[in-house]
Amino acid sequence: MTNAIGILTSGGDAPGMNAAVASACTRIVERGGRPYGVVGGFAGLAGRQIEPMTVEQAADHRQEPGTWLGSSRWPELREPAGRRACLDALEAAGIESLLVIGGDGSARGASALKAERSGLDLAVVPATIDRNIEASELTIGMDSAVAYALEAIERLRITGRSVPGRAFVIQTLGAPHGFLAEAVAAAAGIEDVIVPERPTDLDAIATRLGELATTGPAIAVMSEAAGDAVRVAEALRERVPLRVHPTILGHAQRAATPSPLDLALGETAGRAAVDALLRGESTFLALAADGTVTPSPLPAPLLSTTQGART
Ligand code: F6P
Repeated sequence: MTNAIGILTSGGDAPGMNAAVASACTRIVERGGRPYGVVGGFAGLAGRQIEPMTVEQAADHRQEPGTWLGSSRWPELREPAGRRACLDALEAAGIESLLVIGGDGSARGASALKAERSGLDLAVVPATIDRNIEASELTIGMDSAVAYALEAIERLRITGRSVPGRAFVIQTLGAPHGFLAEAVAAAAGIEDVIVPERPTDLDAIATRLGELATTGPAIAVMSEAAGDAVRVAEALRERVPLRVHPTILGHAQRAATPSPLDLALGETAGRAAVDALLRGESTFLALAADGTVTPSPLPAPLLSTTQGART
């Protein structure tokens, strides 16, 4: 345990990551430690891009989406040479405690680092719009991504009500699972959801959309993990005499404004992570739907729903 703590964001950026960085940085300084920012995720770590971080810097970005520290997808972390480069970089910078904020692949990669250097104190805060870490009920970013999709759906409802006789297929991000699309549909009260986890009955969806469109908005939600909304719209048009329009949210959804829940989760998890690291403990911060954060041991909880996840 040292009082130099590295903070790293990894994988796809998620709204609320910056809040976790800011709260961790503040806590480190409050407790007499020295925060270091790793620029560009694990690729940046391997390249020794480690810089002292100030509370002011981190606070300036607290409520922004994305990650101001920068992130990367870095498959080399799965290779021993990649992990060695990361561990060497930490050692050269005098850092023995690392906070990793990221999704499933990042958590696995971080656990692999810990497995290779037991003296490394590691804290993992789950942050991804995909909510694909089984050990955590929530992940930072998902709530904001759902809220972004709800806003788009409300706008589709407005145009759907204004000019009946049309249907919409809205495609969310989220891969390889349809968790995000399911959450969006549940929050929007939409029954027609196309996700890889369940069979899709396009005939039934076409029939229902046809009925709904006679009086008002007719909307189906699909996950990018289940295919392409342009093709699904075509397939529906073949089944029902309707204009069916695809709306693909794409990466704009990933840069959604952080919701109050994601900000609160980031704040609480960032502090809890630092407290564990300063006690010389490694930990995984499990996030619950009621906003509570429970430190759990590493690496056992990282039994993810995703095999071979990307870092
Ligand atoms: O990180 C999650 C995610 O946004 C997925 O929903 C999406 O499929 C993927 O990342 C896209 O990744 P990238 O932006 O690296 O291509």
